[in-house]
Amino acid sequence: MKITVLGTGDMGAALAKALKRTRHQVFLRGSAEGSGSCKALSESLGLPEAKIADIADSNIVFLVVPDAGLKSAAAQLEGFDGIIVSVVGVSGYLIDENKSKQSAAETVAKLVPGASVVHGYTWMSSGSVELSSERANTSVVHCSDDRDVLNTVCHLSDEMGFKPVKAGKLINSRFAEAAGFLWGAIALEEDYGWNTYFEVHPENSTTE
Ligand SMILES: NC(=O)c1ccc[n+]([C@@H]2O[C@H](COP(=O)([O-])OP(=O)(O)OC[C@H]3O[C@@H](n4cnc5c(N)ncnc54)[C@H](OP(=O)(O)O)[C@@H]3O)[C@@H](O)[C@H]2O)c1
Repeated sequence: MKITVLGTGDMGAALAKALKRTRHQVFLRGSAEGSGSCKALSESLGLPEAKIADIADSNIVFLVVPDAGLKSAAAQLEGFDGIIVSVVGVSGYLIDENKSKQSAAETVAKLVPGASVVHGYTWMSSGSVELSSERANTSVVHCSDDRDVLNTVCHLSDEMGFKPVKAGKLINSRFAEAAGFLWGAIALEEDYGWNTYFEVHPENSTTE
């Protein structure tokens, strides 16, 4: 598959490294063509910068931008009809400024209506993503309204070295994104550490 990582900061870089270990073709893109963070990452990983045409014909785009940049990021995805993996964390979830109380992934689905959106990776740090290949037991939850697309992204996460866990429809991304705050309370407030991660032990496997 052709995969673009849109957003080349800490988390985008960690995911790009994990994607590079798969058999897929990986492109990178920052906030605009020629972005400094994208150039630096492109050079260090040996992965090409995506042109707008590359984004358009990607099978999957990992959207890894701050929620404040969602509208302008969506402009780079205008007309996109593939899969978007939303790795966007909400900065004000369940707090006053997010009056709509919808998840970032739901916002992405509204901003790019032709795409199939899957939520993922917001309950872990970029450091945990980097360590996932050594640990081989880092769970990532995925939610989507399209079951086939959910299966595709779960298989990809498996190839990337994670333990994918299905969490139902996209509306559940509200809980999954909120779990990022729970992670923060555990890892940062209580000082369990930046690379603290969740591992889910299912009684029955549901990844097929
Ligand atoms: N860092 C983590 O551990 C972590 C963990 C889980 C989830 N997340 C989520 O991942 C997202 C990114 O976090 P981060 O820590 O990687 O942030 P970051 O280091 O500040 O990087 C943000 C990146 O987003 C890009 N960007 C900003 N606006 C954009 C736009 N309109 N279109 C395309 N790219 C745009 C920036 O590109 P330029 O450099 O070109 O400006 C930059 O490369 C956030 O939503 C965060 O909640 C982060």
